[in-house]
Amino acid sequence: MHCRERHPLKPRIHYSKASITDLEIQYATDAAANGWGNRCYEYIERFESYFKSHLGVTYAIATSSCTGALHMGLAALGVSRGDEVILADINWIASAAPITYLGATPILVDILPDTWCIDPAKVEEAITPKTKAIIAVHLYGNLCDMDALLAIGRKYNIPIIEDAAEAIGSIWHGKRAGSLGTFGTFSFHGTKTITTGEGGMFVTNDASLFEKVLTLSNHGRQRGQTKQFWPEMIGFKYKMSNLQAAVGCGQMERISALIEKKREIFQLYQQQLSDLPIKMNPEPKGTQNGYWMPTLMTLPSHRLDRVNLLNKFKSQNVDGRVFFWPLSTTGFFELRHDNNQANSIHENAVNLPSYYEIGATDITSVCSIIREHFRMIT
Ligand SMILES: Cc1ncc(COP(=O)(O)O)c(C=O)c1O
Repeated sequence: MHCRERHPLKPRIHYSKASITDLEIQYATDAAANGWGNRCYEYIERFESYFKSHLGVTYAIATSSCTGALHMGLAALGVSRGDEVILADINWIASAAPITYLGATPILVDILPDTWCIDPAKVEEAITPKTKAIIAVHLYGNLCDMDALLAIGRKYNIPIIEDAAEAIGSIWHGKRAGSLGTFGTFSFHGTKTITTGEGGMFVTNDASLFEKVLTLSNHGRQRGQTKQFWPEMIGFKYKMSNLQAAVGCGQMERISALIEKKREIFQLYQQQLSDLPIKMNPEPKGTQNGYWMPTLMTLPSHRLDRVNLLNKFKSQNVDGRVFFWPLSTTGFFELRHDNNQANSIHENAVNLPSYYEIGATDITSVCSIIREHFRMIT
């Protein structure tokens, strides 16, 4: 929905909206006024350093987007024409598109009914001699089964990549999402839990992968090369600006509050909707969900009629989002009739509004619309 649409009576309940305080404004103003010359990388380095310590990783490279971070990471692993990369069928296309940029083929496999993330058994079935990587996308903050995926990676010697764009605040048995795989990527698009407007991050604990991506990110110019403007390879231009990083620094100094708020919002929805025939984002034992997008899905015994629910939201000036479509149905990839979970559950789920400043009364209003909808369909 467009930002400028208005409802005559009620203030809009957005599905997402950045939380920007005086701190981010102060840093961005300083970067605009003074972040040049000697200080032109200052906020970028500080943002990367905050991110590394939050995540518990050795290396981080701030990028212009998560898509760019994925593209460079896959390129650095040597993914190229004729290769295959396995990922879940239910995803935003941004996780699959960089595979195609390199001439490789996304292999879309089914999801698990409880986490809505990639099914490790289906991953193993899909492995061929052409498989070059597996991408674990932590959907809406829900965690993939990282133990199973990492074991498959070790067994077949295939790197496991984490697309943690939606998983700030999610923790898998003591380790933050994005820190467990060969590399991890994040998005700071305006809808995400922390934002720089647009932006992303590449993280890894692998020194040589870090050096490769660093070189790729700067049009192939290697760190330490004394010959000016000398590219070692054809690279990319996916760097974050100091101005964006300044906003990111403010967000990182508030990251605990930003994550905590997502969790509080989720609890409020869960409490108010607990008697409906639905399930919401899971939080298995030993994990923490960052709940980027509180999502409701009807139990298999019920149909949601999500178009009707989303229309009701719209009429009350509330934003809702469809659960992602199976990518295999978009026409760009092989159709997968056998991805039974992906093909059946997406129509019975929607994402609910969850921005930082949403009030408890707004959440109650959203829940009343949902409850009214369930009265009609059950
Ligand atoms: C899982 C996932 N991967 C990748 C992306 C792409 O992020 P960006 O817009 O920063 O390129 C997104 C953002 O929507 C996402 O949700």
